[in-house]
Amino acid sequence: MAVGCFNPVLSPLVPSPPRSRLRAALRSHSHQPTAVSLRLLPSGAAAGRGTWRLAAAAESQAVQEQQARTEEPGEAGGPGAAEASSKLVLVVGGTGGVGQLVVASLLSRNIKSRLLLRDPEKASALFGKQDESVLQVYKADTRNPNDLDPLMFEGVTHVICCTGTTAFPSKRWDGENTPERVDWDGIRNLVSALPQTIKRLVLVSSIGVTKYNEIPWSIMNLFGVLKYKKMGEDFVRNSGIPFTIIRYSGLED
Ligand SMILES: NC(=O)c1ccc[n+]([C@@H]2O[C@H](COP(=O)([O-])OP(=O)(O)OC[C@H]3O[C@@H](n4cnc5c(N)ncnc54)[C@H](OP(=O)(O)O)[C@@H]3O)[C@@H](O)[C@H]2O)c1
Repeated sequence: MAVGCFNPVLSPLVPSPPRSRLRAALRSHSHQPTAVSLRLLPSGAAAGRGTWRLAAAAESQAVQEQQARTEEPGEAGGPGAAEASSKLVLVVGGTGGVGQLVVASLLSRNIKSRLLLRDPEKASALFGKQDESVLQVYKADTRNPNDLDPLMFEGVTHVICCTGTTAFPSKRWDGENTPERVDWDGIRNLVSALPQTIKRLVLVSSIGVTKYNEIPWSIMNLFGVLKYKKMGEDFVRNSGIPFTIIRYSGLED
């Protein structure tokens, strides 16, 4: 999957570089070039994505952003990109469809990154062997507050959270990894564990969270995913940490 957003408003915030560019970026940063591939995991129930796509046509506001920010020069590899190295970006959910692209993009921009993953092995499978000075990997399940050791957040300047599970029951709910646990408990735990010094927290959310009782979003929300995402969003909003919330519509290759 790739970031193929329906709403053009999203494009500047989440650029969708061609896969070939991302692959090249990963190769140039890997110590084992042959092992590197941008394997895009099939994720999310097809029905869920389809419903998201349908809903996308009906909602225009997809991005909410807090004002007056602390962004530094050098964002996105533009002018001043050399300064990007002063950042340490924590990516949560970096093995997912969006997360993989985020990590590849950070690597291609020489931005130091740290991943919080339930299964750290997935990082080397996806991103190849990376030097620790470039990419660090920690094991954590956001549902467990005890996993979120303050050490994991030391030095982190920015956080991008791309966690999620399927909207409808699936194998990915195994072990109670449901929308309630991931999109609400997980986000609340993560945000509560973050130091207030974080310059910006980006939360990947979903279209329809303000209208989950209305057709067509009520279909997507049958098991509560939009309601819990909204609760997670509100927690972010009230956290005191500068934030950007991105409300995705359907994502497809
Ligand atoms: N795909 C779409 O069409 C679409 C549309 C609208 C909104 N969204 C939302 O956009 C976000 C990103 O979407 P996506 O398609 O990239 O999601 P995805 O492919 O399902 O990836 C989800 C990521 O979250 C991680 N994760 C799940 N449960 C976790 C937990 N308990 N602790 C830590 N990490 C956990 C997964 O890691 P594991 O490898 O450990 O499972 C995976 O890396 C999600 O919030 C999704 O709901 C997606």
